[in-house]
Amino acid sequence: MSQQISLPAKLINGGIAGIVGVTCVFPIDLAKTRLQNQRQGQQVYKSMIDCLIKTVRSEGYFGMYRGAAVNLTLVTPEKAIKLAANDFFRCHLSKDGRGLTVFREMLAGCAAGMCQVIITTPMEMLKIQLQDAGRLATQQRKPCIIPPNRLATTNTVLSRSYNVVPNTSPHPSATQIARELLHTQGIQGLYKGLGATLLRDVPFSVIYFPLFANLNKLGKPTPDEAAPFYWSFISGCVAGSTAAVAVNPCDVVKTRLQSLSKGANEETYSGIIDCFGKIMKREGPSAFLKGACCRALVIAPLFGIVQVMYFIGVGEFIMSQSSLKLISD
Ligand SMILES: *[C@@H]1O[C@H](CO)[C@@H](O)[C@H](O)[C@H]1NC(C)=O
Repeated sequence: MSQQISLPAKLINGGIAGIVGVTCVFPIDLAKTRLQNQRQGQQVYKSMIDCLIKTVRSEGYFGMYRGAAVNLTLVTPEKAIKLAANDFFRCHLSKDGRGLTVFREMLAGCAAGMCQVIITTPMEMLKIQLQDAGRLATQQRKPCIIPPNRLATTNTVLSRSYNVVPNTSPHPSATQIARELLHTQGIQGLYKGLGATLLRDVPFSVIYFPLFANLNKLGKPTPDEAAPFYWSFISGCVAGSTAAVAVNPCDVVKTRLQSLSKGANEETYSGIIDCFGKIMKREGPSAFLKGACCRALVIAPLFGIVQVMYFIGVGEFIMSQSSLKLISD
């Protein structure tokens, strides 16, 4: 399937799938970030549903979409890098122009994942600050059992945006946060959590690509025919959510490392190992599964929707229309 479709058509498919996907599942993604960030003993939200209900109550329906603009804007460039890189590596790794071995398939996916983090890391960085702001506000509003001397929050960069100018800008935008980060910490500020993102996304691709290819192969009537659509769809959902749950511990670590504003009593981490260690010690191994269910629920539809776009052939249709127009003009 992927061999005959042109890159621009793939991009249109990926871009539209991304926009539809973000609209459908962003609230679950927001619940995931908030659930992953809350520590034992000071839980504001009991579950995904509880989080969504409380978010709508205190922040309105659009509250569930805080940070969605980041995804809507960057999803297409992110897909572009990933697709182009994947095609490039697959092409270079297949000598005879026929299929790739599972190992090479993994290698291509892995290399593509490494290229993709160039956009993914700053994207996640901005998204997480926006998604988590509502949780911190709710936590601060709660009548607290925390001694007042510990109430001083460890906000670093964002304390300016959140606390100092609440009247003019209670909700800093993604661009404001990006500018502030660049200003105070340089490009590094935007790439906080890069290591954890790689640790999550490279294994994700290593699991997803071959799993999808092999599941999909099971559904092919003969080796040369394509699998039926419903089969590719289910394969994408199963492979995506399996990979998502498998790398969830890295996702928890990434979310914690990237959250700049901390609530009262929330510890800070100096790096990946420190973060893994502290979570293990203070919250136990089950903390690494925080948000796993949400993540599976986010990833499965995102991948499923991509499959649908390819099946309908939106990209090919638009490309053929525009090339016909060019010829007739
Ligand atoms: C938003 O983008 C990030 C970075 O690629 C991704 O991990 C996340 O799943 C996206 N969320 C949605 C709802 O599309």
